[in-house]
Amino acid sequence: RTVYVNGDYLPEDQAKVSVFDRGFLFADAVYEVTSVLDGKIIAFDGHVERLARSLAELGMDMPMSPEALLDIHRELVARNAIDEGLIYLQVSRGAADRDFAYPAADTPQTVVLFTQAKAGLADAPMAKTGMKVISIPDRRWGRRDIKTVQLLYPSMGKMLAKDAGVHDAWMVEDGAVTEGTSNNAYIVKDGTIITRHLGEEILHGITRKAVLAYAAEAQMKVEERAFTLAEAQAADEAFITSASTFVMPVVEIDGVPVGSGEPGPVAARLREIYLDESR
Ligand code: PDD
Repeated sequence: RTVYVNGDYLPEDQAKVSVFDRGFLFADAVYEVTSVLDGKIIAFDGHVERLARSLAELGMDMPMSPEALLDIHRELVARNAIDEGLIYLQVSRGAADRDFAYPAADTPQTVVLFTQAKAGLADAPMAKTGMKVISIPDRRWGRRDIKTVQLLYPSMGKMLAKDAGVHDAWMVEDGAVTEGTSNNAYIVKDGTIITRHLGEEILHGITRKAVLAYAAEAQMKVEERAFTLAEAQAADEAFITSASTFVMPVVEIDGVPVGSGEPGPVAARLREIYLDESR
């Protein structure tokens, strides 16, 4: 694989980052994951806008223009012949002697991008069978709207799910579902799509934004509000969205089947619309 590091395209085994990188020492870095379908980069503008926002919230600059970032995305897709897959981008505050306080503002940032080929992203078998989730308390920090690489708790959540024999975990705080470990969470009740309102408690998903716009265009009712686990278990349908899953049905929550226990029509329709519009 060819990866991008600080201006260079290199074979992955020759790409190097300092042991003093603040991304490594303090999780002082932000990231984006963008999908590729039929060689096409999906929702690049949304991802670059969110990157700019994450960086600004942490007092970091954009490392380069959106156009220059798009060029790197395209170059990596071409060099690695990615037809279906993901592009990962990370920007850290750079390398400096270990100190909690930020280093001088002119410290060069570390910019890394790499691709992951994922055949069958669009034709994922799980879209037909649905996924099962458990619930776990949300123990992340309070600024989940900033896409930082502080991903230890989401990793723990995925492992708890794996140990429980299911696919993912939905996180719960103050009695309400926040989101999945790496995706936004939705339920459907009496034809209305319900997903948590935006705020500092969740990541503002780029897929979420697109899916809610398509739902509105298709005259589907949408409510952006907090919902409880009990409400989710009693819903007609549940699903998640993210750049790596698009729209994926959830058929079981903490061992309780959602609706019929099969993927529902609203999730199936939204997945189809999302894939059609993205391609
Ligand atoms: N995760 N919520 C969280 C906590 C996430 O980490 C993600 C994305 C989302 C969905 O956002 P988007 O639709 O922009 O992908 C919601 C990426 C895919 C990841 O960490 O791999």
